Amino acid sequence: MSHEVKPDAPIGVFDSGVGGLTVLRALREHLPCENLLYLGDTARVPYGTRSAVSVRRYARQATRLLVDRGIKYLVVACNTASAVAIDDLEDNYAPLPVTGVVEPGALAGCRASYNGHIAVVATESTARGGAYERAIADHCPGTNVTVAACPLLVALAEEGWTDGSVVEAVVDSYLKPLFANHEKPDCLILGCTHFPILADTIGRVAGHDVTLVDSAETTAVFVDEELQRHGLNRSSDSPGSTRFLATDSPRRFAKVGGVFLGESLSEQDVELVDL
Ligand code: DGL
Repeated sequence: MSHEVKPDAPIGVFDSGVGGLTVLRALREHLPCENLLYLGDTARVPYGTRSAVSVRRYARQATRLLVDRGIKYLVVACNTASAVAIDDLEDNYAPLPVTGVVEPGALAGCRASYNGHIAVVATESTARGGAYERAIADHCPGTNVTVAACPLLVALAEEGWTDGSVVEAVVDSYLKPLFANHEKPDCLILGCTHFPILADTIGRVAGHDVTLVDSAETTAVFVDEELQRHGLNRSSDSPGSTRFLATDSPRRFAKVGGVFLGESLSEQDVELVDL
């Protein structure tokens, strides 16, 4: 692909659904002048229970659409797609710069942990692929990493169930094995874009001595640095625009997405697209 660099072009951000809006929110805070184009593949969420082969195919199709809309940079705001499809996207769409959320999350986890024990909560597909173990080993070799797949938390977040006794019981049953032995992790990486909205409950169950790491913030800082490195920052000081695309019901995207974005969205803000 030839990638003509246009600094005023949007940054493309994609996720399997609405969870990546937590990353979009951080990008808007760090890069208020950038134009952003968000794609949620809501017709095929969840990616977290699919095979790596399917997730790579979905990620390629989503990227194709964003590239056709003229993006200058791609942020894969989905841990599952970041865990299994980043290399594939870099190969297929070079020289488009691509950033996922696993590397920045792993780096933030390494910085937050003092005792060398890090826990990660993620989807099944992310946990199966070992991406967090590899990324953490690259940044701080010798760290003890325990990853737990927590698929029910995605469903709870999608329903907007963020606290209460049911959520607490589910979180507790997932976290208990992670914190059961005497070498308790002092850091818990939220390795799924849906989990930041459950952070209060997760933090309460994990305990006050455990630092929660949300990769959204670190990813936004990393993208900022990369834009500068590539000379791709938008030239204008005027506020950037955000556009939303979804592969299924704009109404549902707006309703659930507003919770993740932290502001209300209307279905008119969301364009229905087909991959
Ligand atoms: N976006 C996915 C992730 O961060 C969570 C939802 C899904 O399973 O598709 O892993």
